[in-house]
Amino acid sequence: MALKIIDHGSTQYRQMIKLRDDILRKPLGLSFTDEELEVEKNYLLIGAFEDDKMLACCMLVEENPKTVRLRQMAVLNDLQGKGIGKALMIFAENLARDHGYQKITMHARKNAIGFYEKMGYTKTGKEFEEITIPHYLMEKKL
Ligand SMILES: CC(C)(COP(=O)(O)OP(=O)(O)OC[C@H]1O[C@@H](n2cnc3c(N)ncnc32)[C@H](O)[C@@H]1OP(=O)(O)O)[C@@H](O)C(=O)NCCC(=O)NCCS
Repeated sequence: MALKIIDHGSTQYRQMIKLRDDILRKPLGLSFTDEELEVEKNYLLIGAFEDDKMLACCMLVEENPKTVRLRQMAVLNDLQGKGIGKALMIFAENLARDHGYQKITMHARKNAIGFYEKMGYTKTGKEFEEITIPHYLMEKKL
């Protein structure tokens, strides 16, 4: 498996949109708007690949010069639970450190809290609803 930064608008980016749509949005009856995707040219976009096939993805979005937010973490359904998410998180954290960030935050889906806790993240607030499902704010010092 190869972990890579990908370019906005590239073939790999189109694969990323499909993966995120399939795993994160369609199951909720939602989709991405052009405005949502346009702003992603400013973000660090990350993919896990086997040959040309994208297996998983996530992105890093600057909140301020010290803090970056992890978003859109998704692993292909039939490959979940095999360590791909963990490898992707470690790559994203190293990238965040390399860019000088000292903290990662996120809006974590309630059903993924156990995964993030295993990766050293802690909940920092109360449950809230986003895109129709329960979430928690989580963070980790790098
Ligand atoms: C959540 C997700 C990113 C985790 O990636 P993954 O590749 O399945 O996880 P890994 O196999 O790397 O798991 C690492 C560890 O976390 C645990 N874990 C994984 N998913 C978990 C979950 N949902 N709840 C609790 N623990 C979980 C694994 O059992 C493993 O534990 P171990 O190290 O003791 O063996 C992935 O399952 C996914 O894409 N889920 C659907 C979309 C989603 O919810 N994304 C998160 C949006 S905030």
